[in-house]
Amino acid sequence: MHKKVLVSVAWPYVNGDIHVGHLSGYLLPADIFARYHRLRGDDVLMVSGSDCHGTPITVEADKQGLTPDQVVDKYHPNDVKLFKQYGFDYNLYTKTTTATHKRVTHEVFLDLLKNDFIVVDKMEQYYSPDDDAFLPDRYVEGVCPHCNAKDQRSDQCENCGRWLSDGELIDPVSKLTGNKVVLKETEHYFLDFEKLQSELRKFLDKNEGEWRNWVWKEADGWLREGLRKRAITRDMDWAIELPIDEIKKLPKEKQLNDFAGKKIYVWFEAVIGYLSAAQEWSESTGSEEKYTNDSGIVYRKTEDQSSDWKEWWLDSSSEHYYFMGQDNLVFHTLMWPGQLIGSQKGYTLPKNVFVNKFMNYEGKKFSKSRNWTIDSAKIAEKYGVDVVRYYIAANLPENKEANFTWEGFVDSVNNELVANLGNLINRTLKFFESKYNGEISLSDYEIDSNLQKEIDAAYRQAALLIEKGEIVNGLESIMKLARQGNKFFDENEIWQVIKTDKEKADQIMMDLLNLIINLATLMRPYLPFAATELHKMIVGDETDVQVDTDIWQSRYAQEFSLKSEVKILFQKLDREKVLEEREN
Ligand code: MF3
Ligand code: ZN
Repeated sequence: MHKKVLVSVAWPYVNGDIHVGHLSGYLLPADIFARYHRLRGDDVLMVSGSDCHGTPITVEADKQGLTPDQVVDKYHPNDVKLFKQYGFDYNLYTKTTTATHKRVTHEVFLDLLKNDFIVVDKMEQYYSPDDDAFLPDRYVEGVCPHCNAKDQRSDQCENCGRWLSDGELIDPVSKLTGNKVVLKETEHYFLDFEKLQSELRKFLDKNEGEWRNWVWKEADGWLREGLRKRAITRDMDWAIELPIDEIKKLPKEKQLNDFAGKKIYVWFEAVIGYLSAAQEWSESTGSEEKYTNDSGIVYRKTEDQSSDWKEWWLDSSSEHYYFMGQDNLVFHTLMWPGQLIGSQKGYTLPKNVFVNKFMNYEGKKFSKSRNWTIDSAKIAEKYGVDVVRYYIAANLPENKEANFTWEGFVDSVNNELVANLGNLINRTLKFFESKYNGEISLSDYEIDSNLQKEIDAAYRQAALLIEKGEIVNGLESIMKLARQGNKFFDENEIWQVIKTDKEKADQIMMDLLNLIINLATLMRPYLPFAATELHKMIVGDETDVQVDTDIWQSRYAQEFSLKSEVKILFQKLDREKVLEEREN
């Protein structure tokens, strides 16, 4: 029986280009995970979209002299194009500006308000006397009181990842003028985490030992410190409005004295995207194909898939997995589960929250403003999408920070991808092409029993690892099979045997080809383009994934015929040339 699997990928702010840091933080591992589950025949719904509201967007708009929606229109299509280039196979990639998202955000807000998890309260908030305005989030910067990092924004420290409340920053100044800001009392809606504390405790305890240790520990640490109320409204325009008409029907104590200018905080609504996107996907009329509509929204829906979002969100047997970078940890391990619990609708809670640490670039943090970044589109164009997918997948920062270096890139591609996997495939197929004319058939053939064990082990181990979110180790177990294959190739010396013992050579040839069709399947989550090409050369089109059909199984054929000329899948890179990239 298949599982319903929701693959929830963090929604990137649509305020700049996606760099390799984003790819390694969450985008690529999510795609690998989703592809794997689809191969298993699971009914996968992979959703995400552009995170469009709040100060991350308005600050960028100010900088470029654009309106916030122009910023969205500028970057959203770029992101979609990049995801297509990388083969990221979303079922829905949408935006937080859709009508469905607003409707669902309002539903969740009202549920929490009615259930007393959202309360009205007052807080001291940063206020700029110069502008006669409250300044939210990224408009105020100062020193983090926890880790002393400078120039941190007022809602979250980028350095230590902690949530901050107004009043906590040391020496807060306005980002607009550089002038001091003061604290002034104002009324807001708050999510009352104190009331959610015990339910969140149960939620974390249930997942102890299941999540990555460091992720669980960090969430646990925050919970132990004790959660406080968090303001979930802001004084700003570019945000989803409150459902004022509905609120006005509720008792007086649930209403603000003055709704003017108060809107919903971006983090409160962006996470709701996982729920609203599932609904938007259900409502969409797309079928069979993948397509992008006029507003740049990508759909992928196949006939065999259920089209009812409730089967993912209101069925306790469905499994929800989240992918994100380290700075999103607290929002996905505590805030979003808190929102779901407090809604009391029976929404499915996260089964695992796969948080990655950062990937640095030649030892330093990726930074757009300091121009320390790699253009994701260019690098894939130049070296090949799967080559880039390979290097990143082999170096994901799952448990510690990782480092993208050009030296690491060229060595890993040349010494592993090309010299191991590529070489095995290439020399096998070349031999088959030249010595067998690309045709072989052996009616009572059975695979070498040792090799069979190794192939079966690779399927089993990679499955176990990918399901646990150990994407790096999953890849390693596939590369291990390729190494065993190369050893098999060397030890059996088919190029000698064929001169004296044709029957034995046939057996070896079949063993090698069978190994390779299995590698073609095993590669599919990680190297989808090369896998397709390889399939085309030796068996024709690959079997499409289908709900309830488990393709992640070893299979052995008794005949092979090459469908086309043998092409090299991965080219060796010129080391010196690649190293020159460091100069740029
Ligand atoms: N936009 C946030 C970031 O780039 C991530 C939001 S994830 C969401 O860090 F689920 F909240 F949308
Ligand atoms: Zn800090």
